[in-house]
Amino acid sequence: MLLPTASLIAIFLSVCTADVPNALPNDPLLKARDAQKIPPCKACTVLVESFKKGLEKTARNKHDGGDADWEEKKLGSYKTSEVRLVEIQESLCQDLTRGSDQCHSLASDNEHLFEEWWFKHQAEYPDIFPWLCIEQLKVCCPPNTYGPNCDPCPDCNGNGKCKGNGTRKGNGKCTCDTGYSGEFCSECAVQYYESFRDEKNLLCSPCHNACSIDGCTGGGAKKCLSCKSGWIKDEQGGCNDVNECITMKNACKANQFCVNNEGSFTCLECDRACSGCTGDGPDLCEKCAQGYELRDGQCKDISHEKRDQYVTLTRYLVYLGLCIAIAVIFQSSTWIGAIVGVAVALYISASEYWLHSSPSSVTPTVDTKQLEDMIRDSL
Ligand SMILES: *[C@@H]1O[C@H](CO)[C@@H](O)[C@H](O)[C@H]1NC(C)=O
Repeated sequence: MLLPTASLIAIFLSVCTADVPNALPNDPLLKARDAQKIPPCKACTVLVESFKKGLEKTARNKHDGGDADWEEKKLGSYKTSEVRLVEIQESLCQDLTRGSDQCHSLASDNEHLFEEWWFKHQAEYPDIFPWLCIEQLKVCCPPNTYGPNCDPCPDCNGNGKCKGNGTRKGNGKCTCDTGYSGEFCSECAVQYYESFRDEKNLLCSPCHNACSIDGCTGGGAKKCLSCKSGWIKDEQGGCNDVNECITMKNACKANQFCVNNEGSFTCLECDRACSGCTGDGPDLCEKCAQGYELRDGQCKDISHEKRDQYVTLTRYLVYLGLCIAIAVIFQSSTWIGAIVGVAVALYISASEYWLHSSPSSVTPTVDTKQLEDMIRDSL
């Protein structure tokens, strides 16, 4: 009994402690981005850029004016001094938004290489990049070469990029820009046409939207080899939009109307006042919906009119009931009957007078439309 409880507590504790690092307020997004490994040539480039920044900074810092001769001697010795190198190395990989861990480890792994370049190869290689990243670390290649042996890139005719260009990776194949295809990007892609070509340059432009995947011989809807569905060829050979709203019977469902657009069509819901329509709004109904009636060429809500009629009818029925009641009372007591009769007559005439004199005439209830307008105006 004790053992399972203890193990349960142990599991609980381990789960809790495992969760603790996540709960700490260090930005998980930043960490994830930092953990992404930068490709080796890019990492070396970043490190070299950081080194060059350090070179710039230390070049500026030591100008103080004063004795020019003495200053130059001092600066000259500082320029190639170990002091300056150490200063640069101390600030290496700072101000990096990405891959700073990777940069730091690459820098500390290759401290000796920086020293070697600093003291032995600076004159021969004024730029540290080719010496460090291409020759020593062998992670990059010279521009326009790729792969482990830095083989030359093919000519992508300016319409593509060599895969692995400048690095020890990639297969050296051309990755063509959009609109171009072929091994050396010297052809136009599907649905593009040659808008310019000479010995050196090729320019491909997109075919008109109306052209099918067969492509086109030039720009515009007239130059399509064949038309896309939703378009039809006319006598002049141009592709024209098919008006599906006319050519297709029942293109849309009941209580929808059809809107034609280039290459296709859209179905939209009819106004709520309609039962079938030819367009948007209560004036384009084929028939009026239930509770609506055609008035002045529009389908209008008549449900409140029906309700008013119903209210009037019930009011008269109540009056009738009262009269019958008075008649019954009158039979047993003339006096009481007469008094109640007068009271009821007063009540009926007063309420009818009030109903008819009020501005909304027969409508005893508040008109919902008026109320809506009132609320909207007051906002
Ligand atoms: C290779 O990269 C260099 C810049 O590093 C660029 O000038 C050149 O056009 C690229 N070549 C190809 C074929 O992608």
